Amino acid sequence: MSDVKKLYIKTYGCQMNVYDSERMAEALGGSGYVTTDSPEAADMILLNTCHIREKAAEKVYSELGRLRALKDEKPDLKIGVAGCVAQAEGAEIMRRQPLVDLVVGPQSYHRLPAMEARTRVGEKALDTDFPEEDKFEALKARPKARRAPAAFLTVQEGCDKFCAFCVVPYTRGAEVSRPADRILTEARDLVERGVREITLLGQNVNAYHGAGEGGGSWSLAQLIWALNDVDGLERIRFTTSHPNDMGDDLIEAHGTCPKLMPYLHLPVQSGSDRILKRMNRSHTAESYLKLIERIRAARPDILLSGDFIVGFPEETDADFEATMDLIRAVNYGQAYSFKYSTRPGTPAAERPQVADDVATDRLKRLQALIAQQQRAVQDSMVGREVSVLFEKPGRFDGQMMGKSEYLHAVHVDDSPARVGELARVRIVSSGTNSLAGQML
Ligand code: 5AD
Ligand code: SF4
Repeated sequence: MSDVKKLYIKTYGCQMNVYDSERMAEALGGSGYVTTDSPEAADMILLNTCHIREKAAEKVYSELGRLRALKDEKPDLKIGVAGCVAQAEGAEIMRRQPLVDLVVGPQSYHRLPAMEARTRVGEKALDTDFPEEDKFEALKARPKARRAPAAFLTVQEGCDKFCAFCVVPYTRGAEVSRPADRILTEARDLVERGVREITLLGQNVNAYHGAGEGGGSWSLAQLIWALNDVDGLERIRFTTSHPNDMGDDLIEAHGTCPKLMPYLHLPVQSGSDRILKRMNRSHTAESYLKLIERIRAARPDILLSGDFIVGFPEETDADFEATMDLIRAVNYGQAYSFKYSTRPGTPAAERPQVADDVATDRLKRLQALIAQQQRAVQDSMVGREVSVLFEKPGRFDGQMMGKSEYLHAVHVDDSPARVGELARVRIVSSGTNSLAGQML
């Protein structure tokens, strides 16, 4: 009998969780686990959770409820909760769902193998510390398996901004940046394994200030320039940024750094100064628009993306209209928008709430405007020549799918391109979810 055990990880939320799930799978690889796509086949199921909005946490509890049948069938099955819900709820998860064997917060993933061993002898394991040691250092070297052409790499974690609605400073902790040499080593290693595009991740990635090579601390722009010199790496992206941390060198890099892609996710949340102040954002609508102007001066074709919250406590119709005006002024190519969700323990949770039907209506209107802009930006690509990094075969024979430098999904029919190939493509039409192109 083989002692290979199967691990199923379900990932919720942001890209950092996607990265963390990979690292958790790698850490448990040392304990004899291989990953599986089937929860029924698993010896351990890990839910890597998100706590950013209420619904996200509720989804986890209902998923745990659904796992009861599997656990009844297979009593040796271990069930773990990782990520930000684990951090925020801690032991409460085990009280609410006794079938949970293991709860691990985002800063303790390197301790997973020891925790897993405890569950094997029938114990429960809980760790939601913010440990002294650096989990990235404590995690083993990454295995050498071949990788998909686009990868995430966490360079910074945590946030010191304390926006009044947000749990991140509590669940991910204070801002911490990884040293540049470790990031460069990980990037070179990813490239050796077939990666050609790296998205640098951080909750506040442009506040990056890790120890640089040769002393001193580096800005994100300095790190990007160092990555620009990595042979075989063709594309660099980063997310998510705060407007107040867009340094001059980073803005300039958008115009001058050859491998930095023309796409920027720069959340603003609201276009009303009154609401921005109450959100503790420390910027105004005007300062954001000025910043966008400077970024566009450096890179005129940059595609801009944002995050918006509607129905923040005390948001009036006039505040909401200010957000709509800001959206019209920017013209976004992409955006994510949410109804405000009360997060216990955050300052805004105590304030007078906007009626749900009002917030729902605002969200609908905002999303319609964004969809219109997004579609217009996408349609404007028709006739243009873009570069596409091919990531996977498409649904039809001979079709290949990839991403343009602007992060648009592009498919090419009867393509001779292979996965991992970067090619020039002319866009011939624009569909609902993707652009169609022809190889040049
Ligand atoms: N309610 C709604 N949206 C939120 N976000 C963060 N906290 C909340 C909340 N309490 C959104 C913000 C942020 C994105 C990641 O999630 O727009 O930029
Ligand atoms: Fe949350 Fe982003 Fe604000 Fe930090 S900057 S508190 S992560 S919304």
